[in-house]
Amino acid sequence: MQKFIRHLAIVAGIGLAACGGGQSDQSAATTPTIPSSPMLRDQTTIPIGVALAVGSFEQASSIRYSPQASQLRNLAAHEFSSVVAENVMKPEFIHPQEDQYNWSDADYLVKFAKDNGMRIHGHTLVWYNALPSWMSNYTGDWDAMLADHITTVVSHYSSDINSWDVVNEAFLDDGSARPSIWSTHISDYIAKAYVLVHAADPDAELYYNDYNIEAMPKKLDAVLNMVTNFRNRDIPIDGIGFQLHIDRYWPSVTDIRQAFSRCVAMGLKVRISELDIRMNPNNTATTLTPELAELQRQRYRDVITAYLETVPYDLRGGITVWGLTDATSWTPGYYHIPDWPLLFDANFQRKPAWTGMSEALIATP
Ligand code: XIL
Repeated sequence: MQKFIRHLAIVAGIGLAACGGGQSDQSAATTPTIPSSPMLRDQTTIPIGVALAVGSFEQASSIRYSPQASQLRNLAAHEFSSVVAENVMKPEFIHPQEDQYNWSDADYLVKFAKDNGMRIHGHTLVWYNALPSWMSNYTGDWDAMLADHITTVVSHYSSDINSWDVVNEAFLDDGSARPSIWSTHISDYIAKAYVLVHAADPDAELYYNDYNIEAMPKKLDAVLNMVTNFRNRDIPIDGIGFQLHIDRYWPSVTDIRQAFSRCVAMGLKVRISELDIRMNPNNTATTLTPELAELQRQRYRDVITAYLETVPYDLRGGITVWGLTDATSWTPGYYHIPDWPLLFDANFQRKPAWTGMSEALIATP
């Protein structure tokens, strides 16, 4: 019934995505093109998520401040059932001064998600990156500082956020511990973080999140050894987030399946947490040709199929793509190479990649 109501609203052009106070949104008058065929979120019962920019510092893609904010909100709310903040819940933005939390942008995202019946995944509490300078240069009691940060943020969202990336990217590709302010100043900081989050919100699902763990067995060894160690000490952890920032060639679907299966064998939940598939890793293309778009369709289909076939229903934490449209993807800026790694093009239109994801969701319920 809910699906039917959503469908009617879409056909009638009723904006489900409205969220109060669009600030510098100049696009409210234009009607975004939303196709009436089934949305991704209506093709499966597992969460289908998207990372959204919210802050004024990410204005070009922000669902709050971009000139295209209302189109971005509309597309997100129609196609997806889950959201994650691309940046605004990271410490640099949500905790800019020791005695000051900036809830405004993250609260905006939470309200948007609730208004549109979407679940919210928290990203991220403990990372080596995106730190405010006061944290990097801290000279006080580090254990107390970590506890204050985690307890304040998790408590603020305890009734709204269902799951957290508690620690992000704590290992290097060879499986060794990544040096960071946290590893330097706090003994056993990873375990302490999970205990703190669980104490602040006993209902939240707790994930460890990282990249390349689908491709580098030694890195996944380190993560799974950490889980075994946690279990021996009764430290809570529910699942593993595979970022899956991958490309058209790498890694193989066989490797991806193998990595998911190792987590499943330990009874861990598995999320695809930051999916994007770059089609121009060697900088040989200047545009997404129809041939590349077709290869991307197959690659999205194969990766999602691998997830659905290897991870049993009860262990599926969901699939999140890292951005809405190719025009808002982080990858061209990060790699300094043009690319088109997402499901929608710059004009908010579904790409063949969308079809590949949809084909997989429908074929493997
Ligand atoms: C990225 C954002 O997409 C960019 O906007 C930002 O400039 C840098 O961070 N792994 C993660 C994400 O866990 O938080 C990163 O997001 C991408 C890599």
